[in-house]
Amino acid sequence: MTQAPRPAGTPNENPRRLDHFYGGQWRKPKAGQYIDVIDPSSGRVFSSCARGDAADIAAAVQSGQEGFHAWRALQPVERARKMARLSALIEARSEELARMESLDTGKPLKVALGDVLTCARYFEFFSGVADKLHGEVIPATNEHFMYSVREPYGVTGHIIPWNGPITQAGRGAAPALCAGNSAILKPAEQTPATTLELALMAMEAGFPAGVLNVITGYGPEAGRALVDHPDVRRISFTGSVQTGRAVLHQAADRIIPATVELGGKSPFIVFEDADISRAAQLARKAFVFNSGQICSAGTRLLVQRNVVDKFTKQLVEELRKVSIGAGIEDKDIGPVISCEQLNRVREYVDIGNREGAILAFGGGRPDLAPQGGYFIQPTLFTQVNNQMRIAREEIFGPVGVIIPFDTEEEAVAIANDSEYGLASAIWTSDIARAHRCANGLQAGQVYINDYQPIGVEAPFGGYKNSGYGREKGLAALHDYTQLKTVITYHG
Ligand code: NAI
Ligand code: MG
Repeated sequence: MTQAPRPAGTPNENPRRLDHFYGGQWRKPKAGQYIDVIDPSSGRVFSSCARGDAADIAAAVQSGQEGFHAWRALQPVERARKMARLSALIEARSEELARMESLDTGKPLKVALGDVLTCARYFEFFSGVADKLHGEVIPATNEHFMYSVREPYGVTGHIIPWNGPITQAGRGAAPALCAGNSAILKPAEQTPATTLELALMAMEAGFPAGVLNVITGYGPEAGRALVDHPDVRRISFTGSVQTGRAVLHQAADRIIPATVELGGKSPFIVFEDADISRAAQLARKAFVFNSGQICSAGTRLLVQRNVVDKFTKQLVEELRKVSIGAGIEDKDIGPVISCEQLNRVREYVDIGNREGAILAFGGGRPDLAPQGGYFIQPTLFTQVNNQMRIAREEIFGPVGVIIPFDTEEEAVAIANDSEYGLASAIWTSDIARAHRCANGLQAGQVYINDYQPIGVEAPFGGYKNSGYGREKGLAALHDYTQLKTVITYHG
């Protein structure tokens, strides 16, 4: 088993310098450049990562090709066992990885730990299918024997954002590897550490060198070069609509498939017959968890007019209870990822005020927040209408808006009046209404009396501008295979 050396220092103390990891080894960036990595809880630089470019991508893809051949040469059961071993290693090191993730992202330790365990679960889930991926025998004539097989693409490229780095790395890499591909991961420049650790742990789990590779760096440099490389045969991208569109243009030029997961403005519909106190608790989770930096955040709270006051009162009580602090202080929420993101969220608070919405809670810097960090209070606007920018645009901060409605038809119409369609929730005790609404909503996931309770097993992806392709669950697997049909004449 190949053992790669660990980087010197610990994430907490000495500034670290993280190199790329590909072909089973740490590799220096060819141009010798590094990017500062900032702790969002303090605003201080604590680490740096390699600033990858096209030359680094070319070398990593070469390794990825070698990894792909070595990976395919293994029996399916061997691939399955290595994935299971990786899952166990992630779990065994989950506390350490959670500290690393918390420093890079600012998220509370317990949230980071949940993310790490979800990553372990992705490899566990897909290890269970790596030796059960089969095609079909298709009857057509009595003179032909016809069957289909599912084959991998080769080297797949994965562009990952900063809001859930290790879960999103696992979400892309586990099904890609399960299907027999090798992978090049490009984590966000803000949050490189745990994705690199994942590649290192794959070596410890006995993966052939080059199966799981990581190039760090900026999107327009390393990310763009990854999508452009002629030997990268499939792309998964998670991030903004703007960047997703650019990636899709590149993929179109190269005629390669891509899965794009591009965020949302998900509706959370509360009917008068709902369990209002549970709805208020879960509404808090829906738009405050991870400081609102979740693509599927439930940020548009559509509430039936006669329960608006009751719901608002209970939700404000919930928001009052939210504790805020540095990632390592392990409060309910941490900072947002960057100064840029904080300014963006603040700007939307100003926009909401200017648009005439009522600021019912938050909007400012929390009193006791650590100096220098990018903190903002959970924020709630009421008396919002669906034409306002705060109801239409993805904010990616802990900001929710309450939009009143009168009838079921109106609720569904408002919910669907959005460029996005990622997640949605319906709160009611009327089962017929719940399923009528589920049928009417244009969204990749619909929750009834809950909010995103299940991750790994549930197929996930967008309608409309939220993207296309499906991640998670068995649905993800088929996206990483191409179907070959073999026809034999035996007449
Ligand atoms: P982004 O979409 O620009 O970045 C996401 C990833 O794409 C990062 O790894 C980045 O390095 C890479 N990237 C950037 N430009 C690229 C390019 N030209 N070619 C290839 N890869 C590229 O998102 P950003 O700038 O970090 O955040 C802006 C907004 O996007 C956020 O405020 C939020 O609204 C949204 N966002 C949505 C996410 C989601 O989960 N759907 C995740 C992160 C951001
Ligand atoms: Mg960007």
